[in-house]
Amino acid sequence: MRILIIDDEESMRHMLTVILKREGYEPSAFADASKALCALEADEFAFILCDIKMPGMDGMRFLKELKAKGRDETVIMMSAYASMDTAIECMKLGAYDYISKPFKSDEIILILKKAEERERLKKENRRLRAEAEAEYGGRSIITKDARMQEEMALIRKVADYSTTVLITGESGTGKELAARAIHYSGLRALEPFVAVNCGAIPEDLLESELFGHVKGAFTGADRNKAGLFQEADRGTIFLDEVGELPVDLQVKLLRALQEREIRRVGDTKSIKIDARVVAATIRDLRQEIKEGRFREDLFYRLNVIEIKMPPLRRRPVDIEPLALHFIGKYARKFGKPVKNLSNEALDAILCYTWPGNVRELENVIERAMILEESDTIGKNALPIMDKRLGEAAFPVADEEISIKKAEDALERGLIKRALEKTNNNRTKAAELLEISHRALLYKIKSYGL
Ligand SMILES: Nc1ncnc2c1ncn2[C@@H]1O[C@H](COP(=O)(O)OP(=O)(O)OP(=O)(O)O)[C@@H](O)[C@H]1O
Ligand SMILES: [Mg+2]
Repeated sequence: MRILIIDDEESMRHMLTVILKREGYEPSAFADASKALCALEADEFAFILCDIKMPGMDGMRFLKELKAKGRDETVIMMSAYASMDTAIECMKLGAYDYISKPFKSDEIILILKKAEERERLKKENRRLRAEAEAEYGGRSIITKDARMQEEMALIRKVADYSTTVLITGESGTGKELAARAIHYSGLRALEPFVAVNCGAIPEDLLESELFGHVKGAFTGADRNKAGLFQEADRGTIFLDEVGELPVDLQVKLLRALQEREIRRVGDTKSIKIDARVVAATIRDLRQEIKEGRFREDLFYRLNVIEIKMPPLRRRPVDIEPLALHFIGKYARKFGKPVKNLSNEALDAILCYTWPGNVRELENVIERAMILEESDTIGKNALPIMDKRLGEAAFPVADEEISIKKAEDALERGLIKRALEKTNNNRTKAAELLEISHRALLYKIKSYGL
């Protein structure tokens, strides 16, 4: 590791050179700060040890010029007069530390070791951030669907802001994945991402879980406890299933969002919190509002940006790439050389409705990867998937790729399912199908149902 030494005193340069060499560093010493600046243009140094008081360019000016060039080497100042003020001034200008002369060799080595550790952590942080971005920063969200891609673009756009985001979509559509993508591709990536399932925590514990409590707030509260909002400070709190939040907590959440501060259970004062809120729900909150179960004011606070995750059946182009993605994932995990699906198996997954969305597809592939013994997943490794699109499978044979026929098959199947589901109540079936009652009657007749 190369170290640049700048000191006008010959004996200092000599001593430092000896000590540093002994520790395995590669020192280069300069008596003149402006010459050292030139040397920096040509060479790279991990650390710079710089005297403060020197004739010509002094340590402070050297530091200023270095920073003006946008360099970020770790600089440690050395000050013979123990002139704290100048040293502190230098730290403000961006020096990492200072040491007052005279010092023992151990002291300077200790500072260098600390600086090395800091460098290591900085690098590690950069690496972690790059990794987190690769893992969640949108790139791991597989989609070829135009609408989903629009949602992904929106995720990238909002990531760097602290705006509240509401993610809606059916179970298994990737809401949590989207929330992580927002966190890990934004400026808060290295701060905590705290996920809370509002529906899974008992109601009477939820407030204290979210906001914390002080000692004696209730029986069993034998000490102060920070809440999840506080844990997520500077990072992101993911309020999953926010539609399950009881109304009194909705009021408290609204206040937290508006005031950017929280109050622990049993506490009289508030605490400032800087946590970005991302919420998700499978419920239709607009409907919940109408039925008085969700507060409208909170809804508008949460819904500043809405990300809508479409169900898998609305983006059939995603089924194959997702399946291949999961095959790759589990091939690595299980150490199995499975690479693909047979045509038959592909047809089967393409015709299925995937009520459990991407999660269900992932589970089906995981299971098939365990069962399959060849390098291609065959139909036998798949479970019986009977909620097929349409009653008959799509006419997928080469000679029968008529869109008209496929649509008819699909429509007929959906009508049949709607009638089954509603016990032949045609009014309700028409509602489910989102077509008029008359259109339904006409279609029932023409499909001979
Ligand atoms: N587009 C995608 N690309 C890759 N993996 C995905 C995608 N969408 C979802 N997944 C994976 O599917 C699984 C389910 O996703 P996730 O947990 O985000 O869904 P969810 O909407 O939060 O579901 P729930 O409402 O049931 O909690 C996860 O393992 C996730 O990694
Ligand atoms: Mg989820």
